[in-house]
Amino acid sequence: MSLLELRDVKVHFPVRAGIVTNRTVGHVYAVDGVSLSVEAGRTYGLVGESGCGKTTLGRAVLRLVDVTAGEVVLDGTDLATLPAEEMRRFRRRLQMVFQDPLGSLNPRQNIESILAEGMTAHGIGTSNEDRHRRILAILDKVGLPANALSRYPHEFSGGQRQRIGIARALVLEPDVLICDEPVSALDVSIQAQVVNLLEELQDSMGLTYVVIAHDLAVVRHISDVVGVMYLGSLVEEAPSDVLYAAPRHPYTRALMSAVPIPDPDVEDSRERILLTGDLPSPANPPAGCRFHTRCPWKRETRCATERPEMRELADGHRVACHFAEEIAQESPGEITDGNRENLAKSPRA
Ligand SMILES: Nc1ncnc2c1ncn2[C@@H]1O[C@H](COP(=O)(O)OP(=O)(O)OP(=O)(O)O)[C@@H](O)[C@H]1O
Ligand code: SF4
Ligand SMILES: [Mg+2]
Repeated sequence: MSLLELRDVKVHFPVRAGIVTNRTVGHVYAVDGVSLSVEAGRTYGLVGESGCGKTTLGRAVLRLVDVTAGEVVLDGTDLATLPAEEMRRFRRRLQMVFQDPLGSLNPRQNIESILAEGMTAHGIGTSNEDRHRRILAILDKVGLPANALSRYPHEFSGGQRQRIGIARALVLEPDVLICDEPVSALDVSIQAQVVNLLEELQDSMGLTYVVIAHDLAVVRHISDVVGVMYLGSLVEEAPSDVLYAAPRHPYTRALMSAVPIPDPDVEDSRERILLTGDLPSPANPPAGCRFHTRCPWKRETRCATERPEMRELADGHRVACHFAEEIAQESPGEITDGNRENLAKSPRA
C-alpha cells in the first residue's frame, strides 16, 4: 500500500463580495480533483506553471488549508476529515520545507531555539540535553557545523538557510517531507548541492518526498514519479524516465519543449511548442478540457465540451487527454483540425 494517497482532492476557496453581507459570489478552484499516490521511501515530483495549485495541494495534505472534498490518506488514515485533536498527532509525520528559508525562519531566534521549538511542541526528546544531542546529530546530517546553533538566520547564506529549514523538519522525525520549491530561491550552483543533500537524506533516513517545482529540470533527477498539474488538476503522471522520454499530454510536451538541451545539434532540431494565451483564471476555468484554450492539438469534437479523465496509457503512465494516442506521433504543425486558431497565434508554428 502507498504511504500517502490523495483521492479526488479538491480545495475551493470562496470568493466573497460585499463588506456587510460578505456573500460568496464564486470560488477559486485551486485544486480540483487530484488523485495520486506516493510509495514509502520514494519521491513524487509535482510540476506546473505558477498558480496551478501546487502549493495549495501541499498545504491541503498538511491540513494547513481545509480540504473541500476528497481524501488524504496517510498510512491508512484519512486526514482530510480528522478532528483537529487527532490531526495534531499526525502533523509531526508530515513536514514542509519552504521555498524561502529566510522568510520561514524567525530572525530573532537562534538556530538551536528554532530547531528545539517544534521538538518541544511535539514532545520529542526526554530533556533539553537529549534534544540538544538530537539537534547536533541532524545538524551534522545536513552539513552544518555545531557552532551554527548559537547563530541567527541572517548570518547564513541562502543554501545554508535551506539546510536549516530541512533540519527543522527532520528533527521532528517525519515520514513525509513536502518540499515546496526547495531550491528555486537559490543560486544555480547551490541548487545541486541541496538536491543532492535531499537525496542522501532520503537514502539514509528512508524519507518519502513530494517535491514541488515549476522547473522540470529540478524534479527530473530526484523524482521516481512525476505528475504535471494544469489549472488545479493533474494532466499527466509517469515514472520520471518515461515522462521525459515520451511525454504524452500536449501541455507536458509544451513544458518539455521549453527546456533547453545542451547539445547544439539536438537543440537546433528539437520540437518547440509555444503556448499561446494566458493561463485561464482558476476562478473561471474553461469547460471541457481545461487546456483546450491553449492546446495546439485541440480537436473540434469533445475538447471544449467533455473533461478528459486521467486514464492509464501504459503501466504507470496516466494522461488526461481524449486524443493522447492519436497525437503521440504528431508535431503541432501537422495538425489540420480544430487547433488552427491556437497555432495561428504562435510565432513559431
Ligand atoms: N488562501 C487563498 N485564498 C484564495 N485563493 C487562493 C488562496 N491560496 C491560493 N489561492 C489561489 O489558488 C491558486 C493556486 O495557488 P497556488 O499558490 O497553490 O499555486 P502554485 O502552483 O503553488 O503557484 P506558484 O508556482 O506561483 O507557487 C492561485 O490562483 C491562487 O491565487
Ligand atoms: S483533450 Fe483536446 S484540448 Fe485537451 S489536451 Fe487533449 S487534444 Fe488538447
Ligand atoms: Mg507555490
